[in-house]
Parts: sequence; C-alpha cells; structure tokens
Amino acid sequence: MTTTTIERTRHAALIGGESVDPGMTFDDVDPATGEVIAEVARCGPPEIDAAVRAARGAQPAWAERSAADRGGVLRRIADAIRAAAEELARLETLDTGKPLAQARADVAVAARYFDFYAGTIEAFYGDTVPLGSEFFVVIEREPHGVTGHIIPWNYPAQMVGRTIAPALATGNCCVLKPAEEAQLTPLRIGWLALEAGLPAGAFNVVTGFGEEAGAALSSHPGIDHLSFTGSTEVGRLIGKAAAENIVPVTVELGGKSANIVLADADLDRAVPVITRSIIQNAGQTCSAGARLLVEQSLHERIRDEVAERFRGLTVGPGLDDPDLGPLISARQRDRVAALVDTGRSEATLVTGGAAPDGAGLTGGFFFEPTLFDDVPPEATIAREEIFGPVLVMTPFSDVDEAAELADGTDYGLVAGIWTRDVSAAHRLARRVRAGQVFVNGYGAGGGIELPFGGWKNSGHGREKGYEALHSYTRTKAIAISL
Ligand code: NAI
Ligand code: MG
Repeated sequence: MTTTTIERTRHAALIGGESVDPGMTFDDVDPATGEVIAEVARCGPPEIDAAVRAARGAQPAWAERSAADRGGVLRRIADAIRAAAEELARLETLDTGKPLAQARADVAVAARYFDFYAGTIEAFYGDTVPLGSEFFVVIEREPHGVTGHIIPWNYPAQMVGRTIAPALATGNCCVLKPAEEAQLTPLRIGWLALEAGLPAGAFNVVTGFGEEAGAALSSHPGIDHLSFTGSTEVGRLIGKAAAENIVPVTVELGGKSANIVLADADLDRAVPVITRSIIQNAGQTCSAGARLLVEQSLHERIRDEVAERFRGLTVGPGLDDPDLGPLISARQRDRVAALVDTGRSEATLVTGGAAPDGAGLTGGFFFEPTLFDDVPPEATIAREEIFGPVLVMTPFSDVDEAAELADGTDYGLVAGIWTRDVSAAHRLARRVRAGQVFVNGYGAGGGIELPFGGWKNSGHGREKGYEALHSYTRTKAIAISL
C-alpha cells in the first residue's frame, strides 16, 4: 500500500475574498487511515453572517455585468480547475477516500460545470408576450440575490461545480457550507475562483458543523434561495427553514434507485454497468443503482455473474486506485454494517457482508462489496438508503410487478431499464417515478447536461442541465402600455 506522509494543514474559511479564522477548529480525517490530516475552521453564526453580507455586497455589481462577461470569468475558473486537476484530485482522494481515478473524473466534471454554464448563460434569454398592439411585454429572468448552498461529502468537487456554477452564471452570489467530513476541495476551488478573477465575496466557503454553520446558513434572513443535498432528515429541516423565511429551496435527498432487467436484456452489456452503478464511490452516491430487479428467467445467471464480479473487486486506500476506497467515516461504516446485519435475517447473503481484513486496511473505514438475494420488497434493506457498496436483488415475474417494485420505496431519483424491446422500455420509463431514467445504461452521478432531481423523499427542484438556470432565477414580467 502507498504510505503518504501528510503534513497536517490548517484551513480558514474564505469570506469576502479573505481568509477568516474564527479561532476554533475541528479535525478532518483521512478515511483510509483514520488519521487527522487537517484542522478546519469551525465557523458559526457570526461567520455565516459575515459571508452573507460579503455576498450581498458583491451581488449587484456581479449581476450587472453582461452574461458574456460572467461567462468569461466562469471559463477562467474552469481553466484554473483543470490546471490544478492533479492536486485537486489527490486532495479529494485524501479527504473522501475515493479511488484516484474517480477523483480525477470528478475534478474534470467540476471544471465542465463551469464551462457548461459559461456557455449556456449566453443563450439564456427571457421572452416577450404578444398582449396586443397596445402593449410591449417582456419577461426578464433575474437572479435571486444571495444563494445558500449546503453540500454533502460524497462528491465535494463535483457539487461545487453543480451548485455554484449555475448560481454565479445567473448573477447570484453564493455562500457554500461544505460537509464537515470533506471541505478541502471546496475551499481550494474557492481560492482558485478568486485567483481566476471572480470578485471577492461572490463565492464564500464557510466550513463548520451542520447544526452550527449549516443551521445558521439555512435560517439566515439574508439568504434568497437555498440549495441542499444530503439526508432526507436534514432536508426536512432545510425545507422548514426555507418556509420560515419564504424562500425557494431545492432539496436533493438520495434514493434507493433500481436497475430493472427484463428477460430479453443484453446481459453482457448490463452486468458490468449494474455492478459499477453500486460500487462507484463505494456505494455512497445518491443515485447509486442500489436495487437490482430481475425477471425470473435471468435470476440465477445475473446473481452468479454479479457475485463473481463483486468477489474480483479490489478494496484499498484511494491513492492506490482500487475499485473501492473506504467509506467516509467510522459512523458511516457502522451504519452500513448495522443495515447489513439486519439484512442477514431478511434475505440471503450471497457475498461480502463485512469489513475486509487485508493488510493495511485496519485503520480505515472499508467495507466489502455485498450482494443480497431474494430480498422481499418490505425488507429494511430493500427500502432504506444504505449508502454503501450493498446491492439488494429481487426477482419479479412480469413487467407490472417490476414497475410496482421499482416504485415501491419512499424514494424516486433514478431508474435503469435493461431490454431490447423499445416499446417495453418506453412504457416502463413512463411509469417509473424518478427524475432520470436510463435505458440500457446507467448514469450514477454523471451527465451534467441532464436535469437531475427527485420525486417523493428524494426531494424536489432540479439542478444540472439548462434547467438549473431556471432554478437560480425568477421571472419579472414588465408590461408597457404603448
Ligand atoms: P447530512 O444530511 O447530515 O449532511 C449533509 C449536509 O448537511 C452536510 O453539509 C451537513 O453539515 C449539513 N447539515 C447537517 N445537519 C444540518 C442542519 N441541522 N442544518 C443545516 N445543515 C445541516 O448527511 P450525513 O449525516 O452525512 O449522512 C447520512 C445519510 O444521508 C447517508 O447515509 C445517506 O443515506 C444520506 N446522504 C445522502 C446524500 C446525497 O447525495 N443525497 C449525501 C450524503 C448523505
Ligand atoms: Mg475528510
């Protein structure tokens, strides 16, 4: 295994273009070793307030610039991220535990978000309304003002691109609170953006605990729009805070997404993608393919093929670039282990089910790829988001049953459909309640061009794609009587 000597670093918050140290810090842990790698500013209400003021101060001038001008700055941020790509990828791996190849891909995607919104903002127009010859009516799209962003630890670099780039493109200024488990790349991208020419105060990064800094941000009266990605439990709190201040909110809250394999599917194509959709990021992906619904005739074959693939996967420190890195924290690993233990009495464990005991893995938060078969739809492991490398498999006998099973959880984020029958695929895609449906493919976490968001407990509102430009603006109808 790779031994890295890590110098403990101390990180202040980025507020108004300045480094702000509140005097208190908390530890940031390397999930591969359990060792403290950094001390990060523990901010609270005063720092959140300072960041909101800084954003408020910067916002009018930023919004007054032309779309092309703002887009130019976003392009320079994308270039700066690409220029620092290797440094950022290593930082992301160190902080989150993810395999280096995944971290490199994530950093490339983060840059792409800034490019994508730099381009689309120039083609984002308002409308005119033909109210008759006596009127001239335009619908302008205006930024909300100051936007608050609370992001999780699973894809910190990507999340900065996904949520900050469209907010800035449309003329908002932002306050971001990263998760307490992973702040290093959001902070670094914040500084890179400043160096790339983003005005001070336009993008503030305030680190701290959810109940302190996060709660202060979501309830701050100076916030005009909230974007949250994380657990359903905290999503409810964010929704309440938004209701209190009457501000729009986008909540993306995870899922229990299913791959549905019909009898005529091309299994050579399906099995590798299905495997990847749950082991990517060690299963810590909101849109992970966490359930596998298979038509009866394929049941044994798919189970055996997936199990064989799972047994062949490598687990290790992210810097060694294995198939699976560690989970983010001891808490997350214990949560996964407890759900797997519940699963043992609910279904048949095919492979995995424990922490691997390989050399050099003892300090980290590793968990084996795990497959359960014959999982009844009412089982806990079939309904709850596990957020680990755990796939639950359930056979079905016809398409109606498949549709019912696919929709049979409280979540609705993504679905995958595997069949050679175009009509069956399309009919099923229409029936499933999910923000994204993939046919003969599965895009966990990817696809910046595709609008993304949930149904039911997976949340509401959309990010990604052109649609995010609508989310980060509101309309103003200006009617002139001639
Ligand atoms: P979490 O919802 O507590 O954390 C997400 C973010 O919310 C973090 O930045 C955190 O600091 C912040 N936060 C926490 N409490 C807050 C509060 N009272 N007010 C404002 N902000 C607050 O998620 P956690 O505990 O890290 O993970 C628990 C489970 O949530 C996971 O096992 C998984 O099932 C789900 N989850 C889903 C994610 C997704 O991508 N949709 C990402 C992370 C977790
Ligand atoms: Mg960390």
